[in-house]
Amino acid sequence: MRRRAVLTAGALAGALALTGCSGSGAAKAELSVASSYMPQPVSADMAAGFLTITNNGGTDDRLTSVSSAAAGQVTMHSTVGGAMTEESSFAIPAHGRLVFKSGGNHLMFEKLKHPPRQGQTVTVKLTFAKSGPLTVEMPVKSATYNPSTGH
Ligand code: CU
Repeated sequence: MRRRAVLTAGALAGALALTGCSGSGAAKAELSVASSYMPQPVSADMAAGFLTITNNGGTDDRLTSVSSAAAGQVTMHSTVGGAMTEESSFAIPAHGRLVFKSGGNHLMFEKLKHPPRQGQTVTVKLTFAKSGPLTVEMPVKSATYNPSTGH
């Protein structure tokens, strides 16, 4: 019985090593950001931003604030039934994703210091309830950019 327990623990450690987990990593959020972009704004002082935050960890986290040197303020909005509502935070579930996309959740960059132009990048800092902050270089795309077609 004892021998069998030892073997099981060894197999488990091997499986964790194979998937790149560090043991302690399974007990906290592991966040990464992808698919970020800002459509070149048509307004002089306001722009939208989109991205996906993936949590490969075993614990929930929350996006609690967004900031950028390019804007006086960045707010987070949800869209429900066509109406947008400012949110103070968004949940990022364990083994889940938080998606900001056109027509849904979005970031609003307000009081822009310079109008972002296609081809530039905007540096965005994401702050979380539990994890350390992440900095994203958000590319500025055309005003009509659609991530599913790449245009
Ligand atoms: Cu909005």
